[in-house]
Amino acid sequence: MKGIVFTEFLEMVENEFGLEVLDSIIENSELPSEGVYTSVGTYDFMEMQNLIVNLSKETGLEVDALLHAYGRYFFDVLTSHHQDIFDLYSSPLDMLASIENHIHVHVRKIYPGAELPTFQIIDLQKNYLEMIYYSDRSMYMFAKGLMERTFEHYHSGYQIDLEKLAPDGSKVRFKIVTQ
Ligand code: HEM
Repeated sequence: MKGIVFTEFLEMVENEFGLEVLDSIIENSELPSEGVYTSVGTYDFMEMQNLIVNLSKETGLEVDALLHAYGRYFFDVLTSHHQDIFDLYSSPLDMLASIENHIHVHVRKIYPGAELPTFQIIDLQKNYLEMIYYSDRSMYMFAKGLMERTFEHYHSGYQIDLEKLAPDGSKVRFKIVTQ
């Protein structure tokens, strides 16, 4: 997992929950990196897993709720670093339907070593997109947060329903309707 995902996560934790919580989760997560990340480095996903589980213990919030909040937060990181990519899409549904074949393809070039999910498009219509998320990292709630903010970015209404197709969340169906 890329360092930018860690550095931004730690910043969100500090802003939302304070320095004490941040220090405590870093200490309890027993990280090989010791919690020192550079935005261009690549680190073991287990470190993120441990940080989120410890943040969940510390705050009493569910892991899913934390990943969802982080997806929403991370969207703003993407728009500020990669406005050029957003400029290519005039509608949120077009953008979401292009993650697999365009956006993340480009991401692999600019972030070597990135571990990305797979999105398989099942059905794409003018106001409807159905796709299946596949990833061993099971970050489907992070995906939902990113999708919601994509619609908000384009000032569009939306409804996003998800259905876990694997109990561990490594395969999830998204049904997305826009107005
Ligand atoms: C992960 C870039 C748009 C879904 C990532 C990562 C980067 C990235 C750098 C981290 C990879 C790693 O840590 O190894 C971008 C850029 C985007 C974009 C530059 C647009 C400008 C989106 C959108 C979605 C999305 C709109 C909507 C669903 C995800 C998910 C992950 C991810 C779910 C987590 C990894 C996983 O689930 O396995 N993306 N992304 N991305 N991205 Fe994107």
